Amino acid sequence: MNFQLHNYQPDTEDLKTVVIKGLQHSPKQLHPKFFYDEIGSKLFDQICQQPEYYIPTVEQEIFAQYADEMIECISSNCVIIEPGAGSTKKIRFLLERMQKNLPTMYVPMDISAEHLQRSAQQLANDYPELSVHAVCVDHTKPFQLPDEIPAHRRVLFYPGSSLGNFKPHEAIDFLQELRNQGGDDSALLIGIDTKKDSDVLNHAYNDAAEVTAAFNLNLLTRINSELGTKIAVDRFAHHAFYNKAKSRIEMHLVSKQEQTLHILQHEFHFDAGETIHTENSYKYSVNEFQTLVTKAGWVCDHVWLDDKHYFGVYFLRAAK
Ligand code: AVI
Repeated sequence: MNFQLHNYQPDTEDLKTVVIKGLQHSPKQLHPKFFYDEIGSKLFDQICQQPEYYIPTVEQEIFAQYADEMIECISSNCVIIEPGAGSTKKIRFLLERMQKNLPTMYVPMDISAEHLQRSAQQLANDYPELSVHAVCVDHTKPFQLPDEIPAHRRVLFYPGSSLGNFKPHEAIDFLQELRNQGGDDSALLIGIDTKKDSDVLNHAYNDAAEVTAAFNLNLLTRINSELGTKIAVDRFAHHAFYNKAKSRIEMHLVSKQEQTLHILQHEFHFDAGETIHTENSYKYSVNEFQTLVTKAGWVCDHVWLDDKHYFGVYFLRAAK
């Protein structure tokens, strides 16, 4: 058997604490990691198919154009670790091109157990010669890796601009954590969204099919189903916009009316138009990103960009 699942999943207690604390906070906020329950993970996969959400397409174009160079940087005889692996679609693209020089082990990590189990098991079936150790964990906190990982070079893979969902100081902490987990010999192949025209960004997070809206609102549906609350989801609306001064897309859930939510002995009052801030998605110029990774103990060896400079893929190695 070349597949094993290690389930260190955060429990609903965690969701409960975060919801109460987040709604007591001023302004109200919820952490974006809670988007990714079973339904939210599927909605995110659908977002990735929307024409306005250019990130997956452009990143894929960069991978397709520069796969050989990337694979040369990765080199064989390594362990690939992917925090937030989701559908494992991106690693498949690289594995296909690695052919006989597959890594020794692939370690996909994700917060959504069912989604991870399904996609990682399928990958293990498709690559019987690859050892797959899936880890269900909240990788935004200091995380644990399975003991089975061999002492080979660790290559971390973090595509899709997921780092953009951290505030810059949290992004530095997270990259430092990856550096510590990876060790002195490690490398990090990471994709991050660039700054660009506000219209392009605003459309990307307000797709015409309203899948991003459904993804955002699903957070309330999840709270209802896991915490037994009765939030009227239709009394909230999706709101996303590019905050140029802060170089980030902000996603909010806007209360359409004045209302009070009752959540586990707590009451939360909302004015009409008041929001719950659910996500930030930071955008970085190449220079800004290189400065950020340097602060976290990484050295930038390569940057690959698409023609329009909409997205960047970076190969970083651990600073000695
Ligand atoms: C996962 N992450 C990089 C996405 C982003 O673009 O910030 C999440 C997302 N939120 C709305 N659309 C996509």
